[in-house]
Amino acid sequence: MSNKSKIFLSTPHLGNLETSYIEEAIKSNWIAPVGDNLDGFENDLKKYLGGNHEITTLNSGTAAIHLALRLLGVSAGDEVICQSFTFIATANPILYLRATPVFVDSELETWNMCPKLLEVAIKNRINNNKKPKAIIVVDLYGMPYHVDEINAVAKKYDIPVLEDSAEALGSHVNNKYCGTLSEMGVFSFNGNKMITTSAGGALVTSSEALKNKSLFLATQAKENKSYYEHVEMGYNYRMSNVLAGIGRGQMAVLNERIQSRRANFEFYKETLQFKGVSFLDEPKDFFSNRWLTCISVNSFEIREKIRLNLLKENIESKPLWKPLHTQPIFKENLSFLNGNSEALFETGLCLPSGSNLSKTDLNRVCDVVLKSLG
Ligand SMILES: Cc1ncc(COP(=O)(O)O)c(C=O)c1O
Repeated sequence: MSNKSKIFLSTPHLGNLETSYIEEAIKSNWIAPVGDNLDGFENDLKKYLGGNHEITTLNSGTAAIHLALRLLGVSAGDEVICQSFTFIATANPILYLRATPVFVDSELETWNMCPKLLEVAIKNRINNNKKPKAIIVVDLYGMPYHVDEINAVAKKYDIPVLEDSAEALGSHVNNKYCGTLSEMGVFSFNGNKMITTSAGGALVTSSEALKNKSLFLATQAKENKSYYEHVEMGYNYRMSNVLAGIGRGQMAVLNERIQSRRANFEFYKETLQFKGVSFLDEPKDFFSNRWLTCISVNSFEIREKIRLNLLKENIESKPLWKPLHTQPIFKENLSFLNGNSEALFETGLCLPSGSNLSKTDLNRVCDVVLKSLG
């Protein structure tokens, strides 16, 4: 093992304002899940996304997906169509509700849900008297999904779309931000994301009524009484006012963070693209925040050689997400496949992509990749 300093895949990158927002919360004793930082962070996000959406900040992106599915009326016995090529957090909330995920594979332009396969899946489920209750599509690695095509299919069959934009804050299509491209959207602020609140998430809805309902469910579904009365099942999902202070500070540097991650991608591409390494380009009018730079190579063996050589040099990298339809936990679930996500899993690798990487770090990574290919 190398004695060089470790290069991580994606680490938190604080700005200059986070400490003062946290201090304010502590000095004023507003350290519970109520206070100015929560309002401030939600307003910052709302403004950033164009001002037409309501934001509920929560203690994780997973919680946001869970609440979104509740708001969309998903319940026990329902089927929910879910992108297969993603992290398991996209699908776990379907299980929390005792509903069943049906997986749909990806197309190769964005690596997100294939609209043609989506329609095949919907028709199949309708023919079996199991019309899906919702569709969860993902903006994987920061790349927006094919919004027009997917939303058109969803509209044709009148099924709501939830956009898992956990990895895609700041990405957009035709100048419309990810997280706002469908009925509801979700962001994650966990430690490896574009910006972080240490742990946290947000739900994006299109009305104040939905925001209020999400707040109600996120704070144990207390009825409006002087004593505690509960008609519905709720959760303890609200973000703390202390952590929202980190979020406010992070919003001030979000655009710089996007620039840095996009610059990482460009550097890797320039250095590696003609050496047998492929990159995912942006379709026309698509803008990816390039949360993680992903490469694909010609075989599983080459991918593993690169990964293991990086590891020896104290550099962290990760295979792309293992498709959910191949996960043991989902071995009984129905899926509609075209081979794309499995092929990407075999040959794809995420390279270190933090916004705080130096040119020296990037060169260290590229040297190892090039030596592994040569
Ligand atoms: C695609 C995707 N969905 C959902 C999540 C869940 O977010 P969190 O970790 O904030 O619960 C993550 C990240 O962890 C993710 O990458």
